[in-house]
Amino acid sequence: MGDRKEPLVRVRSLRKSFGGVVAVEDLSFDLLQGEILGLIGPNGAGKTTVVNMITGFTKPDAGEVLLQETILTGLPPHRIAELGVTRTFQVVRPYPTLRAYKNLIVPLWSPRARQFASTRGGDRNAVALDLLEEVGFERDAYVPYKPASALPLGYLKRLELARCLALRPEVIICDEVFSGLSMSEIASMLPLIDRLRRKGVTLLMIEHRLRELFSVADRVVVMEFGVKIAEGIPDEVMRDEKVRRAYLGEEIAL
Ligand SMILES: Nc1ncnc2c1ncn2[C@@H]1O[C@H](COP(=O)(O)OP(=O)(O)O)[C@@H](O)[C@H]1O
Ligand SMILES: [Mg+2]
Repeated sequence: MGDRKEPLVRVRSLRKSFGGVVAVEDLSFDLLQGEILGLIGPNGAGKTTVVNMITGFTKPDAGEVLLQETILTGLPPHRIAELGVTRTFQVVRPYPTLRAYKNLIVPLWSPRARQFASTRGGDRNAVALDLLEEVGFERDAYVPYKPASALPLGYLKRLELARCLALRPEVIICDEVFSGLSMSEIASMLPLIDRLRRKGVTLLMIEHRLRELFSVADRVVVMEFGVKIAEGIPDEVMRDEKVRRAYLGEEIAL
Protein backbone atom coordinates (compact mmCIF):
# COMPACT_ATOMS: atom_id res chain seq x y z
CA MET A 1 0.00 0.00 0.00
CA GLY A 2 2.10 2.91 -1.23
CA ASP A 3 -0.80 5.35 -1.47
CA ARG A 4 -0.61 8.28 0.89
CA LYS A 5 -3.88 8.73 2.73
CA GLU A 6 -5.24 12.13 3.64
CA PRO A 7 -6.71 12.93 7.05
CA LEU A 8 -10.52 12.88 6.85
CA VAL A 9 -11.22 13.61 10.52
CA ARG A 10 -8.76 15.48 12.69
CA VAL A 11 -9.06 15.31 16.47
CA ARG A 12 -7.18 18.21 18.01
CA SER A 13 -6.28 18.54 21.71
CA LEU A 14 -9.64 17.33 23.02
CA ARG A 15 -10.23 17.59 26.73
CA LYS A 16 -13.20 16.65 28.88
CA SER A 17 -13.64 16.33 32.62
CA PHE A 18 -16.67 15.22 34.58
CA GLY A 19 -16.54 16.81 38.02
CA GLY A 20 -13.09 15.91 39.26
CA VAL A 21 -12.51 13.11 36.75
CA VAL A 22 -10.47 13.99 33.67
CA ALA A 23 -11.97 11.57 31.15
CA VAL A 24 -9.95 12.82 28.14
CA GLU A 25 -6.80 14.94 28.27
CA ASP A 26 -5.15 16.73 25.33
CA LEU A 27 -6.03 13.98 22.84
CA SER A 28 -5.06 14.34 19.19
CA PHE A 29 -5.13 11.88 16.29
CA ASP A 30 -6.06 11.75 12.62
CA LEU A 31 -8.53 9.37 11.01
CA LEU A 32 -7.26 8.85 7.48
CA GLN A 33 -9.46 8.58 4.39
CA GLY A 34 -10.46 4.94 3.82
CA GLU A 35 -8.67 3.42 6.79
CA ILE A 36 -9.89 1.31 9.68
CA LEU A 37 -8.49 2.88 12.83
CA GLY A 38 -8.89 1.08 16.15
CA LEU A 39 -9.27 3.05 19.37
CA ILE A 40 -8.44 0.81 22.30
CA GLY A 41 -7.65 1.01 25.98
CA PRO A 42 -8.76 -0.44 29.28
CA ASN A 43 -12.24 0.21 30.66
CA GLY A 44 -12.67 3.82 31.71
CA ALA A 45 -9.83 5.02 29.44
CA GLY A 46 -12.12 7.62 27.86
CA LYS A 47 -12.94 5.99 24.52
CA THR A 48 -16.71 6.48 24.58
CA THR A 49 -16.20 10.08 25.71
CA VAL A 50 -14.06 10.62 22.59
CA VAL A 51 -16.80 9.15 20.39
CA ASN A 52 -19.35 11.40 22.09
CA MET A 53 -17.19 14.47 21.49
CA ILE A 54 -16.61 13.66 17.81
CA THR A 55 -20.32 13.06 17.19
CA GLY A 56 -21.65 16.04 19.15
CA PHE A 57 -23.22 14.17 22.08
CA THR A 58 -20.70 15.65 24.53
CA LYS A 59 -19.23 19.15 24.34
CA PRO A 60 -15.46 19.17 24.92
CA ASP A 61 -13.95 21.53 27.51
CA ALA A 62 -11.20 22.29 25.00
CA GLY A 63 -9.99 21.26 21.58
CA GLU A 64 -11.85 20.61 18.34
CA VAL A 65 -12.73 18.03 15.73
CA LEU A 66 -12.61 18.74 12.00
CA LEU A 67 -14.10 16.86 9.07
CA GLN A 68 -11.72 17.99 6.34
CA GLU A 69 -12.08 21.79 6.66
CA THR A 70 -15.41 21.77 8.53
CA ILE A 71 -15.33 22.27 12.29
CA LEU A 72 -17.68 19.72 13.86
CA THR A 73 -17.22 20.85 17.43
CA GLY A 74 -20.25 22.81 18.60
CA LEU A 75 -22.62 21.27 16.05
CA PRO A 76 -25.50 19.12 17.34
CA PRO A 77 -25.41 15.35 16.67
CA HIS A 78 -27.95 15.44 13.82
CA ARG A 79 -25.93 18.07 11.93
CA ILE A 80 -22.77 16.01 12.31
CA ALA A 81 -24.62 12.92 11.04
CA GLU A 82 -25.91 15.00 8.09
CA LEU A 83 -22.27 15.70 7.22
CA GLY A 84 -21.70 11.93 7.03
CA VAL A 85 -20.07 11.23 10.39
CA THR A 86 -22.20 8.46 11.90
CA ARG A 87 -21.92 6.20 14.91
CA THR A 88 -23.22 3.09 16.58
CA PHE A 89 -23.93 2.99 20.30
CA GLN A 90 -22.15 0.70 22.75
CA VAL A 91 -25.58 0.08 24.28
CA VAL A 92 -27.84 -0.40 21.25
CA ARG A 93 -30.67 2.10 20.81
CA PRO A 94 -33.37 0.75 18.50
CA TYR A 95 -36.97 2.00 18.38
CA PRO A 96 -38.15 -1.13 20.21
CA THR A 97 -41.77 -1.24 19.06
CA LEU A 98 -41.00 -0.61 15.38
CA ARG A 99 -40.30 -3.51 13.07
CA ALA A 100 -36.58 -3.92 12.30
CA TYR A 101 -36.76 -2.41 8.79
CA LYS A 102 -39.01 0.44 9.99
CA ASN A 103 -36.17 1.48 12.30
CA LEU A 104 -34.39 2.65 9.16
CA ILE A 105 -37.21 4.83 7.91
CA VAL A 106 -36.27 7.68 10.25
CA PRO A 107 -32.69 8.01 8.94
CA LEU A 108 -33.95 7.41 5.39
CA TRP A 109 -36.12 10.54 5.67
CA SER A 110 -33.11 12.70 6.58
CA PRO A 111 -32.01 15.27 3.99
CA ARG A 112 -28.71 13.46 3.48
CA ALA A 113 -30.40 10.12 2.76
CA ARG A 114 -32.96 11.83 0.50
CA GLN A 115 -30.13 13.20 -1.61
CA PHE A 116 -29.29 9.57 -2.44
CA ALA A 117 -32.89 8.33 -2.63
CA SER A 118 -33.03 7.82 -6.39
CA THR A 119 -32.66 4.04 -5.95
CA ARG A 120 -35.76 1.85 -5.76
CA GLY A 121 -37.93 4.63 -7.18
CA GLY A 122 -37.89 6.29 -3.77
CA ASP A 123 -39.55 3.30 -2.09
CA ARG A 124 -38.06 3.64 1.38
CA ASN A 125 -39.34 0.30 2.63
CA ALA A 126 -37.48 -1.42 -0.20
CA VAL A 127 -34.34 0.60 0.50
CA ALA A 128 -34.61 -0.31 4.21
CA LEU A 129 -34.88 -4.02 3.37
CA ASP A 130 -31.86 -3.71 1.04
CA LEU A 131 -29.87 -2.11 3.85
CA LEU A 132 -30.77 -4.90 6.26
CA GLU A 133 -29.69 -7.44 3.68
CA GLU A 134 -26.41 -5.56 3.26
CA VAL A 135 -25.65 -5.95 6.99
CA GLY A 136 -26.55 -9.64 6.99
CA PHE A 137 -30.28 -9.97 7.67
CA GLU A 138 -31.68 -12.74 5.51
CA ARG A 139 -33.79 -11.22 2.76
CA ASP A 140 -36.97 -13.23 2.83
CA ALA A 141 -36.85 -14.41 6.41
CA TYR A 142 -39.32 -12.89 8.81
CA VAL A 143 -36.54 -11.29 10.89
CA PRO A 144 -36.67 -7.84 9.17
CA TYR A 145 -40.37 -7.66 10.08
CA LYS A 146 -39.96 -8.45 13.77
CA PRO A 147 -40.23 -5.60 16.28
CA ALA A 148 -36.72 -4.50 17.21
CA SER A 149 -37.40 -5.47 20.84
CA ALA A 150 -37.67 -9.11 19.74
CA LEU A 151 -34.31 -9.21 17.93
CA PRO A 152 -31.26 -10.97 19.40
CA LEU A 153 -28.29 -8.72 20.15
CA GLY A 154 -26.38 -9.86 17.05
CA TYR A 155 -29.13 -8.44 14.82
CA LEU A 156 -29.44 -5.26 16.89
CA LYS A 157 -25.72 -4.60 16.35
CA ARG A 158 -26.23 -5.08 12.62
CA LEU A 159 -29.25 -2.78 12.76
CA GLU A 160 -27.02 -0.11 14.34
CA LEU A 161 -24.68 -0.41 11.35
CA ALA A 162 -27.60 -0.27 8.92
CA ARG A 163 -28.77 2.98 10.57
CA CYS A 164 -25.36 4.43 9.77
CA LEU A 165 -25.39 3.08 6.19
CA ALA A 166 -28.81 4.64 5.55
CA LEU A 167 -26.99 8.00 5.63
CA ARG A 168 -24.42 6.95 3.02
CA PRO A 169 -21.73 7.80 5.56
CA GLU A 170 -18.22 9.10 5.05
CA VAL A 171 -17.29 7.80 8.48
CA ILE A 172 -18.75 5.11 10.74
CA ILE A 173 -17.67 5.10 14.36
CA CYS A 174 -18.37 1.72 15.96
CA ASP A 175 -18.44 1.79 19.76
CA GLU A 176 -17.80 -1.83 20.79
CA VAL A 177 -19.89 -3.31 18.03
CA PHE A 178 -18.62 -6.81 18.94
CA SER A 179 -19.35 -6.60 22.67
CA GLY A 180 -21.87 -9.11 23.94
CA LEU A 181 -21.61 -11.20 20.76
CA SER A 182 -20.52 -14.82 20.54
CA MET A 183 -17.32 -15.73 18.70
CA SER A 184 -19.34 -17.02 15.75
CA GLU A 185 -21.44 -13.83 15.60
CA ILE A 186 -18.25 -11.76 15.61
CA ALA A 187 -16.71 -13.96 12.93
CA SER A 188 -19.77 -13.43 10.74
CA MET A 189 -19.53 -9.64 11.14
CA LEU A 190 -15.87 -9.34 10.13
CA PRO A 191 -16.51 -9.79 6.39
CA LEU A 192 -19.13 -7.03 6.66
CA ILE A 193 -16.56 -4.65 8.16
CA ASP A 194 -14.15 -5.55 5.39
CA ARG A 195 -16.84 -4.92 2.76
CA LEU A 196 -17.51 -1.46 4.19
CA ARG A 197 -13.83 -0.65 3.90
CA ARG A 198 -13.77 -1.79 0.28
CA LYS A 199 -16.76 0.49 -0.39
CA GLY A 200 -14.55 3.36 0.76
CA VAL A 201 -16.14 3.95 4.16
CA THR A 202 -13.69 5.19 6.78
CA LEU A 203 -14.06 3.40 10.11
CA LEU A 204 -13.12 4.25 13.66
CA MET A 205 -13.58 1.14 15.75
CA ILE A 206 -13.62 1.29 19.53
CA GLU A 207 -13.06 -2.30 20.48
CA HIS A 208 -12.28 -4.54 23.38
CA ARG A 209 -11.94 -7.65 21.23
CA LEU A 210 -8.36 -7.03 20.17
CA ARG A 211 -7.72 -10.16 18.14
CA GLU A 212 -10.79 -9.52 15.98
CA LEU A 213 -10.04 -5.81 15.74
CA PHE A 214 -6.46 -6.46 14.63
CA SER A 215 -7.67 -8.74 11.87
CA VAL A 216 -9.26 -5.69 10.18
CA ALA A 217 -7.57 -2.55 11.57
CA ASP A 218 -4.86 -0.66 9.66
CA ARG A 219 -3.71 1.31 12.70
CA VAL A 220 -4.57 1.69 16.36
CA VAL A 221 -4.55 4.47 18.93
CA VAL A 222 -4.19 3.34 22.55
CA MET A 223 -5.61 5.34 25.46
CA GLU A 224 -5.14 4.98 29.20
CA PHE A 225 -6.62 7.33 31.81
CA GLY A 226 -7.75 9.77 29.12
CA VAL A 227 -4.32 10.08 27.48
CA LYS A 228 -2.95 8.64 24.23
CA ILE A 229 -0.11 6.28 25.17
CA ALA A 230 0.64 4.72 21.77
CA GLU A 231 -0.28 4.89 18.09
CA GLY A 232 0.75 2.75 15.12
CA ILE A 233 0.20 -0.54 13.38
CA PRO A 234 -1.33 -3.21 15.66
CA ASP A 235 1.72 -5.51 15.96
CA GLU A 236 4.05 -2.68 16.88
CA VAL A 237 1.68 -1.13 19.36
CA MET A 238 1.06 -4.39 21.21
CA ARG A 239 4.79 -4.89 21.68
CA ASP A 240 4.95 -1.50 23.41
CA GLU A 241 5.73 -1.89 27.10
CA LYS A 242 3.35 0.95 28.13
CA VAL A 243 0.51 -0.75 26.30
CA ARG A 244 1.17 -4.15 27.81
CA ARG A 245 1.26 -2.56 31.25
CA ALA A 246 -2.01 -0.70 30.63
CA TYR A 247 -3.68 -4.00 29.87
CA LEU A 248 -2.18 -5.84 32.87
CA GLY A 249 -4.90 -7.47 34.87
CA GLU A 250 -7.32 -7.14 31.96
CA GLU A 251 -8.34 -10.17 30.02
CA ILE A 252 -6.78 -9.65 26.59
CA ALA A 253 -7.34 -12.11 23.86
CA LEU A 254 -4.29 -12.05 21.63
N1 LIG B 1 -21.47 11.36 31.72
C1 LIG B 1 -20.49 11.13 32.59
N2 LIG B 1 -20.53 11.63 33.85
C2 LIG B 1 -19.54 11.40 34.73
N3 LIG B 1 -18.44 10.66 34.45
C3 LIG B 1 -18.35 10.12 33.23
C4 LIG B 1 -19.36 10.31 32.24
N4 LIG B 1 -19.00 9.65 31.12
C5 LIG B 1 -17.81 9.08 31.41
N5 LIG B 1 -17.42 9.36 32.66
C6 LIG B 1 -16.16 8.92 33.28
O1 LIG B 1 -15.12 9.21 32.37
C7 LIG B 1 -14.18 8.14 32.32
C8 LIG B 1 -14.09 7.60 30.91
O2 LIG B 1 -15.29 6.92 30.58
P1 LIG B 1 -15.59 6.33 29.12
O3 LIG B 1 -15.36 7.39 28.11
O4 LIG B 1 -16.94 5.72 29.16
O5 LIG B 1 -14.47 5.20 29.01
P2 LIG B 1 -14.37 3.91 28.06
O6 LIG B 1 -15.38 4.05 26.98
O7 LIG B 1 -12.95 3.92 27.58
O8 LIG B 1 -14.62 2.73 28.95
C9 LIG B 1 -14.63 7.12 33.35
O9 LIG B 1 -13.97 7.40 34.56
C10 LIG B 1 -16.11 7.41 33.48
O10 LIG B 1 -16.59 7.03 34.74
MG1 LIG C 1 -16.93 2.76 26.30
